[in-house]
Amino acid sequence: MLEISALNKAYQSPGRRVEAIRSITLGVGAGELVCVVGPSGCGKTTLLRCVAGLLPASGGEVRLDGVPVTGPPPRMAVVFQEYGRSLFPWMTVRQNVELPLKEKRVPAARRRELVTGSLEAVGLADAADAHPWQLSGGMQQRVAIARAVAYEPQVLLMDEPFAAVDAQTRADLEDLILRLWRDLEVTTLFVTHDIDEAVYLGQRVIVLSSSPTEVMEDLKIDLPPGRDQLTTRSLPRFGELRGHVYRQIQRARGER
Ligand SMILES: Nc1ncnc2c1ncn2[C@@H]1O[C@H](COP(=O)(O)OP(=O)(O)OP(=O)(O)O)[C@@H](O)[C@H]1O
Ligand SMILES: [Mg+2]
Repeated sequence: MLEISALNKAYQSPGRRVEAIRSITLGVGAGELVCVVGPSGCGKTTLLRCVAGLLPASGGEVRLDGVPVTGPPPRMAVVFQEYGRSLFPWMTVRQNVELPLKEKRVPAARRRELVTGSLEAVGLADAADAHPWQLSGGMQQRVAIARAVAYEPQVLLMDEPFAAVDAQTRADLEDLILRLWRDLEVTTLFVTHDIDEAVYLGQRVIVLSSSPTEVMEDLKIDLPPGRDQLTTRSLPRFGELRGHVYRQIQRARGER
């Protein structure tokens, strides 16, 4: 579904050139959930922006379903790391979630159904008529997640989407993503700095090196598919995998 080949990205400004990504090659199969971890500043957000068609690559290419990505593809939803800047302050929560559905020309009755359903799923049914600035950071982030969910995307990109929520909400949202992923069979690329979260959610975990960034490891997560916060996280294999990823990231940081 998603093919990233020898992707290179350098930011160029007068007198300064930052090579954020040296070369990344990775594929995500249809309906697969792949997590990306790596040291801060290694280019995870840059990678997602290139995949989303929001940033031109300096080299290599990204293909979605065989077609080169040159701009934001339809049927792709992105939840950004900077959620504060991704909601429109003059619109209510409901209007924010509904907007992409209007652009997609979903009929009004179905729009209402999708918006209500997704706000309920993230626990914000009561906040539908509030404005984003009246909500806490974690609630705003949940609005952004609801918007992506309501859109029923074919491909979902998420950039540290749960960074601003408390541990309990985070666990709930992780399970919401797993449920959504299973129900809609949405191909998901999920960036996180949380190793446990990556191992819990992913079918594979991609470990990126520090800058100049390359794929350090593409690790298959051989945990049983029916994940559960208590059972999965207490499996001995879970501990082994998280230990392995932890050591890899330490190694990546050490090479800096
Ligand atoms: N618009 C930009 N112009 C110039 N340099 C940039 C720009 N955006 C990012 N960079 C640089 O590219 C590198 C990768 O940044 P990026 O935000 O992709 O990292 P990240 O892995 O998402 O970090 P974090 O874990 O902190 O979110 C950094 O060195 C950063 O300074
Ligand atoms: Mg980032």
